[in-house]
Amino acid sequence: MTTIMKRQFMRPVMLGAALTLSSGLAQAGDQSPWQSGEQVYAKVCGHCHEAGIGPTIKGRNLPPSYITAIVRHGFRAMPAFRSSFIDDQALKSVAEYISTSPATQGKE
Ligand code: HEC
Repeated sequence: MTTIMKRQFMRPVMLGAALTLSSGLAQAGDQSPWQSGEQVYAKVCGHCHEAGIGPTIKGRNLPPSYITAIVRHGFRAMPAFRSSFIDDQALKSVAEYISTSPATQGKE
């Protein structure tokens, strides 16, 4: 009786743990669909931040931790992006890229 109950209970718990582990270990270029922080910026952030919809974020030495927090939680008019779309490794890369890149020339 107890053995059967334990089995039924353990199965979804173990499956959940395995899924969490695999997504947590994803590396850019490995399981991540993103190749680089620059690519994430060009394909996602740039649609707004290079188009005058969002403010300029390159060339301002914004701290990577500030950038990652805003991307995960959103900020007023900016939507949040989940880890199922931009994984942690890709987010870290794009935050470092933005933080260390000069502002795009020709933009105000
Ligand atoms: C749909 C358009 C849109 C996309 C896509 C977008 N943003 Fe934004 N973002 C905004 C807007 C609009 C604001 C300004 C929010 C406000 O002040 O109301 C903003 C603000 C920010 C800020 C705060 C800037 C400041 O002056 O403090 C950061 C950092 C930021 N975005 C990072 C990113 C990153 C990194 C990405 C890509 C992963 C991204 N955003 C994608 C629209 C966007």
